[in-house]
Amino acid sequence: MDLKSEQDSNFIKRSKPVEVEGVLLARGTAENWSLLRAFAARPDDLLICTYPKAGTTWIQEIVDMLQQGGDPKKCARAPTQKRMPFIDLFLPKPMTSGLEDAEVMPSPRTIKTHLPVQLLPPSFWEQDCKVIYVARNAKDNSVSYFHFHRMNQIMSDPGNWDQFLEDFLVGKVSYGSWFDHVRGWWEAKDRHPILYLFYEDMKEDPAREIQKVARFLGIELKEPVLKRIVQHTAFESMKANPMTNYSTLPSFFLDQDVSPFMRKGTVGDWKEHFTVAQSERLDEVCAWELRGSGLTFRTEL
Ligand code: A3P
Repeated sequence: MDLKSEQDSNFIKRSKPVEVEGVLLARGTAENWSLLRAFAARPDDLLICTYPKAGTTWIQEIVDMLQQGGDPKKCARAPTQKRMPFIDLFLPKPMTSGLEDAEVMPSPRTIKTHLPVQLLPPSFWEQDCKVIYVARNAKDNSVSYFHFHRMNQIMSDPGNWDQFLEDFLVGKVSYGSWFDHVRGWWEAKDRHPILYLFYEDMKEDPAREIQKVARFLGIELKEPVLKRIVQHTAFESMKANPMTNYSTLPSFFLDQDVSPFMRKGTVGDWKEHFTVAQSERLDEVCAWELRGSGLTFRTEL
């Protein structure tokens, strides 16, 4: 994926997502659906999976720091999207897609996806790949997704906050229902090697959560390295880091003047957006959709 000039961005205009097997996906993803389904995972692939805006970039940097022995210089070798290909992002030629980047990448690879569990390319299950899933509470997740729609020029126009929240609640947004996504992956963790993390836990005690990731990856972590990873992956560090803040992508794609990619990085920003009625409604929908799953979320720390 190399965006060089505005000419390359012919395609980049706000386009509505398209339904694939009952889930809305970006048009490029839908158009390349059979290619994506046929993606050949390798047994030593690590998959990072999230609903969009749940803290993907954050966990990606944590994982890369762990893989690079806590050396920030090694993590600065390329921007996030080059280090860990995003296989469901398809951009038109001459840009390579995340899937093409992944295909030519030597093993071991770390791959990013936002796909709901039922749409994951089957080879990941066949190869029994490890998966790290990060979930974020629906209130902060929806607010973050709203601002991302505003700044990401290839996503559909979100309208105003009230309109966007309605779409989010009924799953009429890219990658579909947040409720189905977090629940589907939660249930899959009992059958597959999936580490299921929460954004709120990562905010509360990053060192504890980084240790969990290290254990899952079979990496022994010494105290000074852990400290370095906590520092390097703190919100302010990642916001200032051109290899993690998406500033290498042009503004005709991600317009960071509209809303920065590293926007607030907090738990509870939803309070600045939700009315009391909207908050109560989301609580009700959440209780209904997640009933019987054992899955609960914190909306403040
Ligand atoms: P906000 O919009 O609420 O600030 P993703 O990487 O999945 O697109 O998620 C982006 C969200 O994660 C944004 O949330 C961003 O600020 C937040 N984020 C990114 N890096 C973070 C970090 N190191 N600590 C906390 N939040 C982070």
